Amino acid sequence: MSLLISNGTIITEKGPFAGNLFIDGEKISAIGTTPQSADRIIDATGKLVIPGGIDVHTHLNLKVGSNITADDFYSGTRAAAFGGTTTIIDFAQPEKGESLRDAFEKRLVDAKKSVVDYGLHMVIVNLPDDRLEETDEMLTAGITTFKLFTAYPNRLMADDETIFNVLRQTKRNGGLVITHAEDASMIDASVKQLLADGKIEPKYHAYSRSTTSEARAVKRVINLAKKASAPVYFVHISCSDSIEIIKQAQAEGYKVYAETCPQYLFTSLDDFGKDEITDLKYIFTPPPRDKANQELLWQALNDNTLQVVSTDHCPFNLTTKKEAAQNNFTAIPNGTPGIEHRLELIYHFGVLQKRISLNRWVELCSTNPAKLFGLYPRKGSLNVGSDADIVIWNPETKRTISASTHHMQVDHSLYEGWEIQGQAETVISRGKIIVENGIFHASAGQGKFLKRFPQ
Ligand code: URP
Ligand code: ZN
Ligand code: ZN
Repeated sequence: MSLLISNGTIITEKGPFAGNLFIDGEKISAIGTTPQSADRIIDATGKLVIPGGIDVHTHLNLKVGSNITADDFYSGTRAAAFGGTTTIIDFAQPEKGESLRDAFEKRLVDAKKSVVDYGLHMVIVNLPDDRLEETDEMLTAGITTFKLFTAYPNRLMADDETIFNVLRQTKRNGGLVITHAEDASMIDASVKQLLADGKIEPKYHAYSRSTTSEARAVKRVINLAKKASAPVYFVHISCSDSIEIIKQAQAEGYKVYAETCPQYLFTSLDDFGKDEITDLKYIFTPPPRDKANQELLWQALNDNTLQVVSTDHCPFNLTTKKEAAQNNFTAIPNGTPGIEHRLELIYHFGVLQKRISLNRWVELCSTNPAKLFGLYPRKGSLNVGSDADIVIWNPETKRTISASTHHMQVDHSLYEGWEIQGQAETVISRGKIIVENGIFHASAGQGKFLKRFPQ
């Protein structure tokens, strides 16, 4: 099957240009201005033609205690496709003592229902010295990234020795450590104080996890990375305190990379206080911050202190959160939905409101994720020979976001009632149209596991 997308404005990280794009089978076979014939021709006049979005931080089918996220790999990747995301990277997480290989193979079973292509990061909580070479084996299997947490003690937190050892091992084998950075002891102390003062309502989750605790952990991990001479990537950076530390390390020449997520660009502490149920929407980690951080995050996205926008899509229903919130805020499962809306939110509030350029939008949502996570040039740009993961973007369509119309399986939206302009009109995954004018054309299992390579 061949496809010609004609007369669109092609956007890559290098900038917009007018032209036609030819797809033969699963690959882009030519890019040019001379029209050619094809089995199907899509006229993209007035539309933007961009590489499919890549969301490097999702939690589909994630069990936390007795709770489970509302989206599995089918519903989550279907929603991603509606929003123009054609690749996701989720996580495999070993049980205590389980080998990385077994955790990987188990998680592949969950991920099999994906509609779009997917990769996996490997979570490491503890890895004794004599098992560090399991990370080399993971690289061979196509997992290049290892996630370590400095928070969530007794569940996910790794100690500094483990973080340092994995950093050193990735320096040797070409992998990349990605880190959830928050200082667990500061959080513990705040939680104890808040509970002792009777401050048990959901909003106190946010007050228990300060920007200082985030920045302190960012600094600590950067110091470990410097000592190991290894690159490091920070997930969900939420505040200017962290940005300053990252910027400083980058200025010193260290390979420090980071993402932020829409929830930090668009929500703040001001959102608390409408009512207790609505407050539950804002229980995610790191929490919403003081509003002043939002423009500083945009600046950091623009000046390349931050290279990626991911979603940290971790959708727990409000009914689930409400049930868990009976005693105090500490029992509420953390996380927010977002896999469907990343491209459109960043387009509307970033490009249309002139905070970032069109090509920076593509870079943040697709090209940089591909480059940092071992998928480039197969994904993340529009090159001859690349996978034909393409979005035809209608820059004019206006819509209102709502849980009643979104495709995620979760019972609420963080952006309920927001009016936005710009929409993924046609979404193509490896040459197949999977969404067109709001109609879904794919099936479970169409997505493939992506073997990634060290960058
Ligand atoms: O609140 C969040 N982010 N939940 C998902 C787990 C994590 O910390 O990324
Ligand atoms: Zn996290
Ligand atoms: Zn996460």
